[in-house]
Amino acid sequence: MAVIFDENAMRSEMAGFLELYERRPIQQNQGGMGPTHLFGLYTLLRKIKPKFVIESGVYKGAGTWLIRSALPEAEIFCLDPKPASISWKDPQSHYLERDFACVDWSRHIDDMSECLLFCDDHQNAIRRIQECLWFGVGYAVFEDNYPTGKGDCYTLKTASEGGSFPIPDSFNSYERSDYNWRCAKRFFEFYEEMPPICIPEQTRWGDIWTQDKFHTRAPLFADPRDPHVAAQFLKDAGAYTWLCIVKFRQQFQLHSSSAGGVI
Ligand SMILES: C[S@@+](CC[C@H](N)C(=O)[O-])C[C@H]1O[C@@H](n2cnc3c(N)ncnc32)[C@H](O)[C@@H]1O
Repeated sequence: MAVIFDENAMRSEMAGFLELYERRPIQQNQGGMGPTHLFGLYTLLRKIKPKFVIESGVYKGAGTWLIRSALPEAEIFCLDPKPASISWKDPQSHYLERDFACVDWSRHIDDMSECLLFCDDHQNAIRRIQECLWFGVGYAVFEDNYPTGKGDCYTLKTASEGGSFPIPDSFNSYERSDYNWRCAKRFFEFYEEMPPICIPEQTRWGDIWTQDKFHTRAPLFADPRDPHVAAQFLKDAGAYTWLCIVKFRQQFQLHSSSAGGVI
């Protein structure tokens, strides 16, 4: 059963999102999120309403704009090693030039359990999960959640499929195994993938989109020709990469009120 991406709730958020999307400051975001994942992020943020959001991977700033639009009151931290690519900056957000793992979060956030980490940084998702546990983060979202054999980073979806992630000539390759997934799941209250809005015949890699190869939740609209599918979503349907959210179990989150509180 869906906890975050409830189909009916998503459908009811759609018109408001599309209205907002028309006012986006970055019109051309090739290499960043298109309307499908911006919509997924919008719906989950409006549902969870985290007090703090850490955005890892800013690029031009389309994600920052979306986070700020969905959460006018949140404190947002934006991390990217290439700040020169940022063209839209939020005056209320904090821009840090450090990897998520290298920041002293106790200087910025007084309750990590109220914090959501949004990763669109193409880093190893299992490592990010380990880092979240270290800091006691409440939620983590991964935009590039590629299935086995696709994409440029080791993902939770690949781990859950027991897939390998080979890196040529590298000591850091992952062998075919579901061991990481079994380890990771112990810390999760839930793991949930966003459903696609509609499913095109082919994936972004040109493969035929079959369930055995690309296990995917039922789309919000079964027929891509359904007149309710907005043109923006239809055009972007191939960009879907199984965006997912993890909630960490309460006992692994760092609460300001818990023994020790903010370290
Ligand atoms: C795909 S883009 C992000 C797109 C953005 N979320 C959007 O929708 O517009 C990936 C970004 O991750 C950044 N990046 C690479 N390594 C990173 C790291 N360790 N921490 C944070 N960002 C990183 C890159 O510089 C790049 O700007």
